[in-house]
Amino acid sequence: MGTSICACLLAAGHRLHCVESDPTKIRHGAPKAFAVLKEAAAHGLIKESLPHVMERFTVSSKFDGSRTQRLSFEFTVESFSIKRRVIKELKRSCLLARWIGSNTSSIPITELQKNARHPERVLGLHWAEPATATRFMEIVCGNQTSLAFARRAERLARGWGKEPSLIRRDIRGFITNRIMYSMLREAFHLVDSGYATVADVDRSMRNDLGYWITFAGPFVSWTSWEFAPTKP
Ligand SMILES: NC(=O)c1ccc[n+]([C@@H]2O[C@H](COP(=O)([O-])OP(=O)(O)OC[C@H]3O[C@@H](n4cnc5c(N)ncnc54)[C@H](O)[C@@H]3O)[C@@H](O)[C@H]2O)c1
Repeated sequence: MGTSICACLLAAGHRLHCVESDPTKIRHGAPKAFAVLKEAAAHGLIKESLPHVMERFTVSSKFDGSRTQRLSFEFTVESFSIKRRVIKELKRSCLLARWIGSNTSSIPITELQKNARHPERVLGLHWAEPATATRFMEIVCGNQTSLAFARRAERLARGWGKEPSLIRRDIRGFITNRIMYSMLREAFHLVDSGYATVADVDRSMRNDLGYWITFAGPFVSWTSWEFAPTKP
């Protein structure tokens, strides 16, 4: 996800420094981000010239201890210990890091913010691929996250082209993953118990809920159908 998140932030006008732990991937970082930006530009999502956008992007293999960025993100593998270590490193190396956003899909933010110098500034920023085109973003508060900070993150996210949802109390899996997994649990139950086959479950979902729920959300009724961005 890191590549498309970097591309999204560059397209939104940010100056960006990326730290890639795998030395073999470093030289691919900028070309990969460029390729994602090129595709986004082809769809009219970027107005600036791409070489100009790329001037704002640097990548290295280590935290250099002198960074002054306001907002730091981690998008390492979904491992609690690795994320904890990277967040600790971010806190240590970013002189002015005001916020730290984690792209975890399932780890409670409350666990990730423990022992932080400013736990109120650690929050979940859950993106969707490709970050340059999707409007999805879940902003997740841990037990110690300041709601005011989360609100500011919401405003920032709108500038990245997102239509964010705010999760005010920490819960594993947040909104979409929880709902998706509850649906999958029920689908497995129906098949395992012999009520229907895999193909029949898929066919029903595709031809009924699949027509509308993915776009509308479970609480939108047919009479109040609207696609306008959600009001805060
Ligand atoms: N792929 C998606 O669609 C998606 C969507 C939402 C959230 N996420 C979340 O984003 C995060 C990354 O997922 P991904 O699919 O981009 O994974 P990925 O495997 O493509 O990328 C993981 C990155 O972590 C780095 N990494 C690996 N081991 C490391 C270590 N020991 N220390 C530091 N960095 C290390 C890798 O070099 C790579 O840059 C996960 O937390 C995932 O749950 C992914």
